[in-house]
Amino acid sequence: MSNISKIQHLRELRAQAQLGGGAERIEAQHQRGRMTARERLDVLLDRGSFRELDPFVVHRTHDFGLDQQKYLGDSVVTGWGTINSRLVYVFSQDFTVFGGSLGEAHAEKICKVMDMALKNGAPIIGLNDSGGARIQEGVVSLGGYADIFLRNTLASGVIPQISAIMGPCAGGAVYSPALTDFIFMVNNSSYMFVTGPDVVRAVTHEEVSFEQLGGAAVHAEVSGVCHVISESEVETLKQIRRLMTFLPQNNMEDPPYLDTGDDPLRSDARLDDLVPDDPSKPYDMKDVIRLIVDNGDFYEIHERYAMNIVVGFARLGGHAVGIVANQPAVLAGVLDINSSEKAARFIRFCDAFNIPLVTFEDVPGFLPGTVQEHGGIIRSGAKLLFAYCEATVPKLTVITRKAYGGAYDVMSSKHIRGDLNLAWPTAEIAVMGPDGAVNIIFRKELTQAEDPVQRKAELVADYRAKFANPYIAASRGYIDDVIEPRETRPRLINALEMLANKRDSNPPKKHGCIPL
Ligand code: HXC
Repeated sequence: MSNISKIQHLRELRAQAQLGGGAERIEAQHQRGRMTARERLDVLLDRGSFRELDPFVVHRTHDFGLDQQKYLGDSVVTGWGTINSRLVYVFSQDFTVFGGSLGEAHAEKICKVMDMALKNGAPIIGLNDSGGARIQEGVVSLGGYADIFLRNTLASGVIPQISAIMGPCAGGAVYSPALTDFIFMVNNSSYMFVTGPDVVRAVTHEEVSFEQLGGAAVHAEVSGVCHVISESEVETLKQIRRLMTFLPQNNMEDPPYLDTGDDPLRSDARLDDLVPDDPSKPYDMKDVIRLIVDNGDFYEIHERYAMNIVVGFARLGGHAVGIVANQPAVLAGVLDINSSEKAARFIRFCDAFNIPLVTFEDVPGFLPGTVQEHGGIIRSGAKLLFAYCEATVPKLTVITRKAYGGAYDVMSSKHIRGDLNLAWPTAEIAVMGPDGAVNIIFRKELTQAEDPVQRKAELVADYRAKFANPYIAASRGYIDDVIEPRETRPRLINALEMLANKRDSNPPKKHGCIPL
């Protein structure tokens, strides 16, 4: 064979690998309204940046006639490329080859690219579209999954790990995405469950559809497994590109600085009367966030889950920050099981990747009731407390209104190493709200009062005047300063710059025992 024909042969093999499971199955994939593994990578990565690994790998199975069906590259496309010119490693499961199912070769390809990502300190992004363990390969495919799970765990906190669910994701296969930092899903097109509707019917006699059991909406709103839900595959891939702009390549780097063009000294008078005079009236904390961050650009995570707390990324003076904010517009911003866990997870991610935390606080306390107590609010609230306490990144706190009870301590207070704790003049920092406090302290007096309603009103007004303000906390240094709301942006940006070289650490240990 001449050199020219050898090169021709290589070209033919490459063209064959590009076709995956063949034109018919590609057409079927399009008929399902889904893109192929390669088309997805084209959208995810900078144009022309993808470099493929292992396009000639094939499976080695003989059982069930599989030796007659080999596809170059097997059922996953792996390699690296760039997003906004920064290196990322990727794998994209190819549903056109054995339904994207994972056997030995498929797992080895993913493990290789994960090892490279970890060694070279760059994020790994997995696009999942798979029927799960390749049934014909039996336990070998289960072993392949476990090899991936181990790598997910070892890479956790070292490089960002992102999963997009672009089709089915069932059985133990869900646990690789579950071990990663962020899960993206496509509405009405992707689903995740440990056991499918048939097994559910057999075991619990429940009739449930794929969508109801593990569709994107369910995971974005009810289980919280999904962090970002989008209406199309293209939108999902674009959202991942956006997320990457806030993240460092690995835990040894700071997040990238970006000149946003927004004036760091910009103050905004609209903040001054954003908090209603009536303390029981809600307002939208996202309005506060948008008026403060660069260009009002807030990338919310878990937007539809536990909406009484808001988390997400933004920039302040070009510096990436993680924002955690109580949301008075939902359940008065109370902390409950789901919101505590949502925030704790986000805080730990930011701390692992050197992203400063900015906390906006307006919280009436923890949600009372048997549902919460029996559901373990003690354990969940402790997770949030743990996450804030152990975080060593710069921590800034702004109390806009209520900071009551244990929730005052939890939400990045000075006592748990808040670096700069500011309060607006509308802040109320106390053990509890005036109404509850008066009911407890003056119970006897109120039962004996001639006009209990009138007396209670007087006592509440008295308590409010004395305690429902930021100045007692400020007099003790628990609050570093009371500021005008309009100054918040310049003050926060100044604080971030003041803390740029912050060094803090925790005692040496194997790992803490967060109350899981
Ligand atoms: C081998 C598989 C496969 C699998 C699908 N295919 N799943 N091949 N192993 N697990 C093949 C099909 O034979 C078919 O091949 C092609 O992929 C497309 O599948 P269809 O069924 O035609 O597609 P669709 O109707 O869209 O249904 C997709 C599906 C369904 C919902 C994913 O295929 C399905 O239910 N598959 C089985 C899912 C499952 O139970 N997996 C095991 C989970 S347990 P042809 O040649 O026709 O194109 C598990 C354990 C992991 O994963 C444990 C880790 C710890």
